[in-house]
Formats: sequence, structure tokens, C-alpha cells
Amino acid sequence: MDKIIIGGGRRLRGEVRVSGAKNAALPVMAAALLGDGPTRIRNIPRVSDIGTMADILAALGARVDFPSAHEVVIDPRGLSTPTAPYELVRKMRASVCVLGPLLGAIGEARIPLPGGCAIGPRPVDLHIRGMRRLGASLRLSHGMIVARGGRMRGGEVYLGGRFGSSVLATANVMMAAARARGMTRIEGAACEPEIMDLAEALGRMGARIRGAGSHTIVVEGVRRLRGADHAVIPDRIEAGTCMIAAAVTGGEVMILGARPDHLRAVIEALEEAGAAVAVRRGGVAVRGGGRRRVVDVATHPYPGFPTDLQAQMTALMTVSPGISVITEKVFPDRFLHVPELNRMGARIAIEGSSAIVRGVRALSGAPVMASDLRASAALVLAGLVARGETVIDRVYHLDRGYEDIEGKLRALGADIERTAGRKA
Ligand code: UD1
Repeated sequence: MDKIIIGGGRRLRGEVRVSGAKNAALPVMAAALLGDGPTRIRNIPRVSDIGTMADILAALGARVDFPSAHEVVIDPRGLSTPTAPYELVRKMRASVCVLGPLLGAIGEARIPLPGGCAIGPRPVDLHIRGMRRLGASLRLSHGMIVARGGRMRGGEVYLGGRFGSSVLATANVMMAAARARGMTRIEGAACEPEIMDLAEALGRMGARIRGAGSHTIVVEGVRRLRGADHAVIPDRIEAGTCMIAAAVTGGEVMILGARPDHLRAVIEALEEAGAAVAVRRGGVAVRGGGRRRVVDVATHPYPGFPTDLQAQMTALMTVSPGISVITEKVFPDRFLHVPELNRMGARIAIEGSSAIVRGVRALSGAPVMASDLRASAALVLAGLVARGETVIDRVYHLDRGYEDIEGKLRALGADIERTAGRKA
């Protein structure tokens, strides 16, 4: 297994360009199943989750080609089976976003249930509720969601759940509704930029969708969708990770492609934490190095502070003087990074769904284990600022969602390298 080795203590300086958003690309790739011809998606990141989605679509019978590193063409005309293979689905919980497109395209879907994962239980009740409202019958059988719909029909769907709206359930309902008979009204819809991007891609395919980006989305079903050409938005989580990297190392980094309109809560939190953030043409510049301050952060659905940056923000707070409270409102158990950060000298206690972080003068490098995608990013940030060497094991978690993270950080002056180990 690959490892990442970081020598801490370098201030990051320079420019870095963010890749396309994995979380936008995945549902758009699935949406390509709904077209009657090939869809070309540009600005896709080179990360392993994209490869997993490509394999799933190919297993369903679609033809998937990568004409260049950041471009994929999906031709759904060979779609021949409604069954997504378990070996692929278990690698990535986002696989559930083929449910809506399969029902919309062929009126049938069989998807192994994504179980719990490192960041806690991942229920699918909202996805199921949404599909039922569109007239599909769903049951759980042998660990699989078995869904049948024939041609779906529009309906009224409420997608609010205990932890707010669900991003991928909103995506699933939008995709199934795009080819359903009649009108669908989604209340309690997720407002994430990735949902707006999906609506835009579906619009290019001929779908009629209004209200994406708000809590109410109206979809007027059409009989046919065509293939389209779409470029996905830049990755706001990668951008936020780089912004925090600049702040935590006391460096100065221009993050090219970062969209300030997608990062309001993050900019706010970083400024409160003592970083200087400037919106420039083409991106966002962050300068650390001033007095670090503690800030209390609670994660929320968009436009709140993203749960996918909670671990990274916690890493910044470990070296800020004072006590901060980081509360997780989206995935209340998402604190696997905490014991690893504590091994590096951080002082963090978990109280329910909050991390109480007592800032320390310095972290010390240590061998640590990545446990999930964003927790791994937090360990990288901690390694950048720690004294001595940090060795991160199980780097494949990082590779699921960050394109060439060590190359990008090295270009900013970080002392970071990857060693190729034995295959897992
Ligand atoms: C997406 C993102 C993920 C991010 C998350 C929250 C992708 C590929 N992944 O995941 O990176 O962390 O949004 O911003 O876009 N829930 C239910 N029932 C359901 C579905 C979800 O209770 O049927 C709960 C979840 O357990 C969680 C909350 O709702 O507590 C939000 O989850 P959701 O928005 O669905 O996350 P994903 O769309 O899976």
C-alpha cells in the first residue's frame, strides 16, 4: 500500500489549480444513462471514485471512454442490465446515485445496499421515499435495493431528513423525474452547488428543471433526453482544503479555480481564524502567518460549513491558541481523524457530536492511518505543520477524492512524497 511521507514546517507559497468536483462529476456521469446518445463530461478529476463510477456504468452495459485525462464520454445505448455489481458498489457509497437514472432509463434497478461506513451509518430511506413517490416499487432483498417502476410518474416529494436534506437523494429524484410522466415537485431539496451543476447538465440533455439551488425544485418530465456536453464545476472541497493548508502553514497561496460563491462559510471561518482571504480574478488567495485564533464551527448542509471540510478545520484548530468547539450536524459520528490527530500531540476530546479542541503550541510528526477520504486530508494538513516526519498509511482513501495531492502540495513548497508499497 502507498504511503505519504511529510516533513513538517514548510510554509506553502505559490499557486495551485483545483480539479473538477468529484461530487459533481459522479451524479453527472450517472445522469448520462438517461440520454439517447453519448454524453461528454469535461473537467473531471483524476481520482479513483471516478474510475469506480466508470466501472459501474460499464458493468451496466454503457460504453465509457476517457479520450483525455480529464474527459469522459459515456454512451448509454448498450445499457443492458439493471444490476450494479456489489464488488464495485461497496467501494463507494455514492454508487447509489445510479438508482434514479436506471429507473428513469429502463424502469428497473438492482443496487446492493451501501452499508455503514467509517463516517457512520449511511441510510438510504430518503432515496427510497423519493422513488416511491414517483411510482416505483422498492423492496430490500438479499442486501439489495430492488426497484421497479416502468415509466415513472411525477409526484410531490419531501426530502428533508433528520440531518437535513440529502444531496444524492435529491440528485436521484431529479434524475428519475427528468424522464417521468408529468410534473415532480421536490420540497426540502438539497441546495449544494453540485445539485445546481447536475441540473445544468440535465438541462443540456433536454430536461426541464427549475429551482435547483433552492429548497424547492420542479421537474417537468420529458419522454426523451439526448446526450450532451458538460464541464463540471471546480471542487470546492479541494479548494477549501488548499485554503486551510495555506492558513495552517502560515503561507500564502492563490487557489486558482476556487469559486468564492461556493465557499462563503469557509472564507468566513478562515477569516475568523486569523487568515487573510482575498477574492481575486480566477480564484481565492489565502495568507496565514498572522495571529491564529480559535473559531467554533458547526457543519450544516449548504450554504453552511461543509461536513467534508470539518476534519481539515479541526486540524487547523489543533494549533490555534484557545479552545474551539467543532460540531458535526450532518454526520454526527464523523470523528475518526481525532484519535490520529491526538497521536500527533493534538488535544481533542469528543463530546457527543462535537470535538472540543484545545490548541497546542506544536504537533509532532508520527505514523498515522488514514480512515476515510476527508480524515486523510486532515492528517496531511497536520503533517504539513507538525515538527518532524509524518507517515500516512492507507493513502488509497485520499486517492478517492484528491487528484495528485502530493504533486500539488510539493509545487507549493511542501516536503511531501509518496512511496509505493506492496499492493493491498
Ligand atoms: C454527499 C457527498 C458527501 C458529503 C455529503 C453531505 C457525494 C458523492 N457525496 O453524500 O461527500 O459528505 O453529501 O454533504 O456527493 N441521510 C438519511 N437518509 C438518506 C440519505 C441521507 O438520513 O436516505 C442522512 C445522512 O446519513 C447524513 C445526511 O442525511 O446524515 C446527509 O447525507 P447526504 O446528503 O445524503 O450525503 P450523500 O449525498 O450520501
